[in-house]
Amino acid sequence: MSVLQVLGIKTDLIRPGDDLVESLEKAMSTSGLALEDGDILVISESTVATAEGRVVALQDVKPEPLAFSMATKYCKDPREMELILQESDEIIGGIPGVVLTLREGFLYPNAGIDSSNAPPGHVVLFPADAQKSAFEIRMRMAKGRKIAVIIGDSRTHPLRLGCVGVALACVGLEPVEDARGQKDLFGRELKITRKAVADNLVSAAQIVMGEGDEGIPAVIIKGAPVSISEANCAIPTIAPQECMYIGALRSSPRPYTGGYDDLIEKARQAAKDAYAPYSGFLVGAALLSKSGRIFAAGNIENAASGASICAERAALARAIACGEREFEAIAIAGNAVEPVSPCGICRQSLIEFGEDIVVIMANLKGDAVTATVADLLPKAFTDKCLR
Ligand code: THU
Repeated sequence: MSVLQVLGIKTDLIRPGDDLVESLEKAMSTSGLALEDGDILVISESTVATAEGRVVALQDVKPEPLAFSMATKYCKDPREMELILQESDEIIGGIPGVVLTLREGFLYPNAGIDSSNAPPGHVVLFPADAQKSAFEIRMRMAKGRKIAVIIGDSRTHPLRLGCVGVALACVGLEPVEDARGQKDLFGRELKITRKAVADNLVSAAQIVMGEGDEGIPAVIIKGAPVSISEANCAIPTIAPQECMYIGALRSSPRPYTGGYDDLIEKARQAAKDAYAPYSGFLVGAALLSKSGRIFAAGNIENAASGASICAERAALARAIACGEREFEAIAIAGNAVEPVSPCGICRQSLIEFGEDIVVIMANLKGDAVTATVADLLPKAFTDKCLR
């Protein structure tokens, strides 16, 4: 049985322009550490980037107008925002203080631009080409030995507190092991399991490296049950549309899982009283006010088609006429193959009374999906735009 060892390499402060390999080798010999066949050297990305001179003084950055407007939106320093725009391929979105970016298929907070472990008034960018850096470090440090080099960073997982390790570049071992085809405890074939070997090794390294002033920018991992090879390929990624998190978080309607059965039933009943002789498409809507009252109506068509009114707006008109202004949810039902989705005008009418109103879209077969009005009408024109 192999024993896994994670040995920290404590160095002096690495500065821009330093020869990282020399610094590491000096620190290793001081502490009696040596690389052997099978070893894996894990180095933090900020150290590699710093040595490569990827440190920027914020006072030298001149933000463009786009950076100013996005900085306001995401509560960031405009100079940092300018660097984020320069360093990323795409901005996915953000929350105050953090912008989620894509660069060469990797998700990074703030395009990986970090002020921690950077001198005051400076930020550290990512290594320009981490794979190339890992390759060169390995070439110089291997000296005929079979070793792997990983450049590591840290990330949070969705909804989890705390960082885990993630590999940005990996040379000398396969970063992702395909476990498909192997058997589980019950003899069933594993269908989707792949092991993020390189990420796991970075996590192990981070237990020793820390994230702050420990002064341990690299570790040697000995005894890891992985095979060292000549592998030198980019860390594999998956397309955003195939990613469970990105896919699920796009604000499309979600399956309805209960809570408004009575409201849906009232909408179905209201469809029976719809006046729709022209389309024959009977729709019912039931609107639940925050005071607990339900206002239901069907669509009301007209020989002059523009004078027709949808069920949702008919229900809304009833509620407003009764003095209600605050709403919790609206159910919509009709005899359709797919759950009935409110039209654009109805989305606009509903958002006037709240972005968070829950919309339950149903048909008569029992299918239902749900979303908020804001999900259905992103970037809506509301009273806020008039201010
Ligand atoms: N309709 C609604 O009442 N609500 C919807 O969400 C979709 C469409 C009505 C309008 C019109 O009377 C008929 O369905 C066909 O468009």
